[in-house]
Amino acid sequence: MVLRQTLAQTTMKAVIILGAGQGKRMKSSVPKVLHKIAGKPMLQWVIDAVKILSADQIITVVSPELKNHEILKGTDVVVQEVPLGTGDALKFASQKLKSNINKVFLFCADTPLLNQKDIKNLEHSKADLTVIGMKLEDLKKSYGRIECNNKGYPIAIKETKHNEKIKNIPTANAGVYVFNAKMLQALLPKLKTNPESREFYATDLVELAVKNGHTTELIFADEENFLGVNTLVELAQAETIMQRRLKTEHMLNGVQFLLPETSYVNHDAEIGTGTIIEQSVHIGENVHIAENAKILGFSYLSNCTIESSANIGPFAHLRGNVVVEENASIGNFVEVKGSIIEKNAKAKHLSYIGDAIVGEGANIGAGTITCNYNGFEKFKTQIGKNAMVGVNTTLIAPISIGEGAYIAAGSVITEDVSANSLGITRTQQQEKNEWATTFRAKYSKKLS
Ligand code: UD1
Ligand code: CA
Repeated sequence: MVLRQTLAQTTMKAVIILGAGQGKRMKSSVPKVLHKIAGKPMLQWVIDAVKILSADQIITVVSPELKNHEILKGTDVVVQEVPLGTGDALKFASQKLKSNINKVFLFCADTPLLNQKDIKNLEHSKADLTVIGMKLEDLKKSYGRIECNNKGYPIAIKETKHNEKIKNIPTANAGVYVFNAKMLQALLPKLKTNPESREFYATDLVELAVKNGHTTELIFADEENFLGVNTLVELAQAETIMQRRLKTEHMLNGVQFLLPETSYVNHDAEIGTGTIIEQSVHIGENVHIAENAKILGFSYLSNCTIESSANIGPFAHLRGNVVVEENASIGNFVEVKGSIIEKNAKAKHLSYIGDAIVGEGANIGAGTITCNYNGFEKFKTQIGKNAMVGVNTTLIAPISIGEGAYIAAGSVITEDVSANSLGITRTQQQEKNEWATTFRAKYSKKLS
């Protein structure tokens, strides 16, 4: 026990995350590792996941276009100018390794579904080189395959793209390794380019390690946690898995999803206990929902705070810094942007509320539009407590409607309305007696 503790204290750990390369198979102009899962870039998922190792150094290897990206803050950034393979990326990274490091954990930024338990498990590895393997159910998958000796220790990793036959080996390479640092530094200069691809492969280190008398080890883990994302198809598969995980966590915390598989939840969503999320709801970035709220079907939310017992939707759209206070209601086909809807206020049908404050208990009639933009600037609308805005009202901002004021239906309001007054801008109604009778008579004569 004493010996173990001393050993643990003296183990200096580094994590290297490979995130360069073109990601050609994505066929996308966005660098592969910046593609998002549940709204968070893949590279960020991996950086966050490896924190559990409390490493003394984290090195990220990226392409030149990413070198100043904010995601990389707190890591030692290495730029791989030309993507010459995972072995080449590792060579660059190793030049930055602090001299006192004795264990190196290598991860790929395109495996975003990492699970903390698997990562923690790696700390127990004893061999000079440990690799994570996954038992494949579908042998068609293109992962590299781990060849083992008859005792089950890895002796080589081979790529299926160069040798279709090895697809029969069911143990796939997850792309995660632990190296004895000294061994790694000694072996990296010996890596040769693959004759077919002209790239350096990090996977060749296994064969080199064995040849040079080093010990190897294989740790098995679930395939799902190491899904490699190389194409947009795999990106969607990873998203599906992450969505299932996120919603399961919310449900276990007391959030009810009516049909969880139909709704999207961003990684940073906060949802309170007792809240019900109906079918096909999009909970985008920066959404905070308190307890006992109801988000009805087909609503689309981002950058908003919804307080307890508020009702949203169906078919509501909230975006750009919105607060819906306690017990307020936003109904169908209502878009709210950059606004505060105070306690008990209601906008139940067909409205656009932009850059507004809707006072406590106010009622916004169907078809009300805040005209907040003149083509150059945005202006504010203020609606007082308990005001009643009639249907089909056009509010030309900047404008203020006083507390308890009424706005007559169909009005175009261009001037402030004071508290408890009626604002009305309609033309006088006229009635023309028997006009319809005369009109019909004229037409029946014309058509006969
Ligand atoms: C790699 C492994 C394969 C394994 C699979 C697991 C090799 C040769 N093959 O294949 O055995 O089953 O991962 O998912 O390592 N990268 C760089 N610089 C480069 C090339 C790649 O930083 O020059 C980074 C990429 O950003 C990526 C990671 O390394 O995050 C893996 O590269 P990728 O090209 O996706 O390797 P695979 O073909 O998936
Ligand atoms: Ca990959």
